[in-house]
Amino acid sequence: MSEPIVIGLAGYGTVGTGLSRILTDNEEWIRRRIGRDIRVKKVLVRDPEKTRQAPLPPGAELTTKWSDLVEDPDISMVVELMGGLDTAFELVSRALSSGKHVVTANKHLLAERGQELFSLAEEAGRALYYEASCVGGVPVIQTLKESLAANRILKLTGILNGTANFILSRMSTEGMSFDDALAEATDLGYAEADPSFDVDGIDAAHKLVLLTRLAYGRHYPLEKLAVQGIRHVEVADIEFAREFGYRVKLIGQVREVDGGLEAGVFPALVKYTYLLARVGGNYNAVRVEGNACGPIMLHGQGAGDLPTGSAVLADIMAIAKEGSAPNNTGYPECPLPVADILPPDESRSQWYFRFKVRDQVGVMAAITRVMAERGISIAQANQKGAEADEDVSLVIITHQARGADVRAALADIDAMEFINAPTVRYRIL
Ligand code: NAP
Ligand code: HSE
Repeated sequence: MSEPIVIGLAGYGTVGTGLSRILTDNEEWIRRRIGRDIRVKKVLVRDPEKTRQAPLPPGAELTTKWSDLVEDPDISMVVELMGGLDTAFELVSRALSSGKHVVTANKHLLAERGQELFSLAEEAGRALYYEASCVGGVPVIQTLKESLAANRILKLTGILNGTANFILSRMSTEGMSFDDALAEATDLGYAEADPSFDVDGIDAAHKLVLLTRLAYGRHYPLEKLAVQGIRHVEVADIEFAREFGYRVKLIGQVREVDGGLEAGVFPALVKYTYLLARVGGNYNAVRVEGNACGPIMLHGQGAGDLPTGSAVLADIMAIAKEGSAPNNTGYPECPLPVADILPPDESRSQWYFRFKVRDQVGVMAAITRVMAERGISIAQANQKGAEADEDVSLVIITHQARGADVRAALADIDAMEFINAPTVRYRIL
């Protein structure tokens, strides 16, 4: 049997302890698969006194200095499961330039500074693997990098954040409040250290940047991505959507249009017959449409200790047994060229509008006139009755319309005297 591979583990929280449990539970199996043992020599944490969800791996020692991992000549691979940007960047960049391989689950780091880190890995000839960074236990990175490499990807659509999907599912099926559902997701270890990343669409945006690189070989800068989260999704819209046959989901989507890329993260109505509409709880799904393979759907747990630990361990095992040069991005160019970005105003889709209006003569006529002037055609409409003098919700589902026309029409409508609140708008997949 070959020598054990010695790793330095940075972070012993949800994912770090999940990884440790799988290393212990599947020890025999891992040995059989890769023909060697995996030994954790050092574990980096902030607070060495904290009670942990799993005992340290046998023989491992705790440290609070990240340089201990980088400077140890026995350690040939650093596994970064801390999260955050600055310390993680220091650790990963120093590890690579010291000739160590790196495995990370940190999508924030790779979305913001991936171009630099992949260049460093390329110069050092080391692996920088990140299967766990996107949709937890679902093997989407490997699928895009290797299995679908022969395809031009026409479109990638995903439910990319487990916490947001968990919250929407709980609000939808159990009528739970947003705050209670977020608290439960946090207790279960799904949420980021700063849960606003989950609910404001930022974590999904990080993942979409990574998936776009893999699918198109282009760097789509995070700051150019249109991002909207679920913080303002109301139970009323979830219920209206259900009446029309839709579920509300936080979607990340990128597609190629005329050689450019159109991408965004947004809550959307998804027809209940689509597989994406059936994805519940902390589950995630990615639908990839290749020009040769057609549509492919990947589905599984997008967050949590064991699912994410499983993806981290798969990367460690791949590096431990790999004989050839690492394949970090799936493309020989490094850094990747920047994408030609299409403005959201040009994108076309169906829309859901909920107008909060005074119930009076001529309201519907005034709204539909503005929509007609902008070329927006109505597919369905519904008004919920109310007691005299109460506001009513008027819901309209449109046919395909251009983003810029929708924006302009709603600006005109929201200025009308009978409109009592900004119009709620969601795209429809
Ligand atoms: P976590 O539970 O908060 O654990 C983070 C660990 O890193 C803790 O052990 C913490 O030490 C340590 N740490 C953080 N900053 C440190 C620093 N500056 N110096 C030393 N140690 C530091 O986080 P997690 O949920 O495991 O997530 C880890 C990474 O995986 C993140 O990048 C996250 O986005 C990603 N990820 C998470 C999931 C998930 O389901 N949770 C899924 C996919 C990807 P202390 O324990 O002493 O505070
Ligand atoms: N907070 C993330 C989520 C963890 O909820 O999807 C997995 O990346």
